[in-house]
Amino acid sequence: MPFTATVLTILPDMFPGPLGHSLAGTALNNGVWGLKTLDIREFASDKHRSVDDTPAGGGPGMVMRADVVGRCVEDAIARQPDVPVIAPTPRGKPLTQQRAKALSEGSGVILLCGRFEGIDERVFDHTFSNGTQIEQVSIGDYVLSGGEMAAMVILDSVVRLLPGVMGAAESESEESFSVDASWDGLLEYPHYTRPREWEGRTIPEVLLSGNHARISAWRRAQAEERTRLWRPDLWEAYEARREASPKGKPRKGRS
Ligand code: ADE
Repeated sequence: MPFTATVLTILPDMFPGPLGHSLAGTALNNGVWGLKTLDIREFASDKHRSVDDTPAGGGPGMVMRADVVGRCVEDAIARQPDVPVIAPTPRGKPLTQQRAKALSEGSGVILLCGRFEGIDERVFDHTFSNGTQIEQVSIGDYVLSGGEMAAMVILDSVVRLLPGVMGAAESESEESFSVDASWDGLLEYPHYTRPREWEGRTIPEVLLSGNHARISAWRRAQAEERTRLWRPDLWEAYEARREASPKGKPRKGRS
């Protein structure tokens, strides 16, 4: 069975959306991963198929009902009992490359997308029939109008890491945030291609030298410099790891 994502949403037509294109889309069409949607509205019990109601205690907007959402999550869990259930929400744990990598090594994920003001809190307090609790994940400190686009971002970050999705093996290992032993935590070095000169700017000479050792050293220096200037938070963490390990390497490689 390929990696399978099940998205619980009141807007199933939003999927696959951007995930139907390019790398993820080709992999989807080739059966490298699978995508299902469950329409939360199908789990409503009244004739209007309502999924939301006014907030207890008053206030603006509407809240997604615990009973309806709960039934939908149980249904998804019954089909995929061994995968994590993630609700994208701005208050969740920030998405990281490590988390994406870990998810890509599992058999799938259930993504619960909220709309309106959010989901009744009891759904997050609840332990589902297989012992699962919902994890909340944020894709950044800003508010989207629903979880669907965040779910797409999470899935894109995971799907590209599945075996056979990316082209060259190294296209992951040297990029920003890659979970690779030595590049871990550094921003990516700059890339260049033809033409050799554009708008008066040339490609750095070293890249045309054919000297792979020099090229590697230059790229590493660029990655470090960018990280130091642009993301001092990442640089501090990188330096701390480097100091903690003996040979000046950030840490031991993972195989
Ligand atoms: N839903 C709305 N905003 C979000 C965010 N920043 N991250 C994840 N899910 C969201």
